[in-house]
Amino acid sequence: MIKNAIVRRPGHSLVNGITSAPELGKPDYGLAIKQHDAYIEALKSCGVGVTVLKADERFPDSCFVEDVAVCTRKFAVITNPGASSRKGEEIEIIEVIKKYYNDIEYIKKPGTLEGGDVMMVKDHFYIGLSKRTNREGAEQLIKVLGKYGMSGSIVEMLEMLHLKSGLAYLEDNVLLITGEYINNLEFKKFNKIMIDEEETYSANCIRVNDYVLVPAGYPKTKEKIEAVGFKVIVVDTSEYRKVNGGLSCLSLRF
Ligand code: GLY
Repeated sequence: MIKNAIVRRPGHSLVNGITSAPELGKPDYGLAIKQHDAYIEALKSCGVGVTVLKADERFPDSCFVEDVAVCTRKFAVITNPGASSRKGEEIEIIEVIKKYYNDIEYIKKPGTLEGGDVMMVKDHFYIGLSKRTNREGAEQLIKVLGKYGMSGSIVEMLEMLHLKSGLAYLEDNVLLITGEYINNLEFKKFNKIMIDEEETYSANCIRVNDYVLVPAGYPKTKEKIEAVGFKVIVVDTSEYRKVNGGLSCLSLRF
């Protein structure tokens, strides 16, 4: 059961967020705020209490709070973002994480790790080696997981930004999967829902209690998720997509 979520309001500087899709244009700030409001409402309608942090204009990507912490059922980890413009965001999340967790661990230099590269499946954590998360960071996380009786494993990555750009665990052994992960033997045991190539972005969904949040504009993905019996809430994230953002990275959920 997910009881809590933490989100951070986007600042006007969101328009300068890191992007690998400049052809989509800059986010419309007014629309991004409306979409953020709707995202918060969607989380609340799943029965989650949402803590809303103030925008931090210093960090254009700081609304993507998922990258700066990993929240497990026993402890939290403050990460060390691999993107240079995001270094320092992790410091801003510590105080709020302290309100929820007694045990807090830290990823330390030269380790880098972003939460978007970490996929939780019960007490096992898949950690993608991306341009943001290095082997040292992944190994530090595996070590602290072991300390708390949990485990982690490393997933080699080729091209996706974050591990969860192409994977989402929906609980009940169901995994949304696309692109480079489809033939990865690490994910053999799951009941896989394959995401069509033209809907790749929508592999980034989130299961929140009785619902799955799905991004607007991906009808095939929505249909496939509904077909296996999940209730779906559609949330528009078009402005966040322009700066590499999706449903999962907009919140910490625990
Ligand atoms: N703009 C989100 C990220 O690339 O970290």
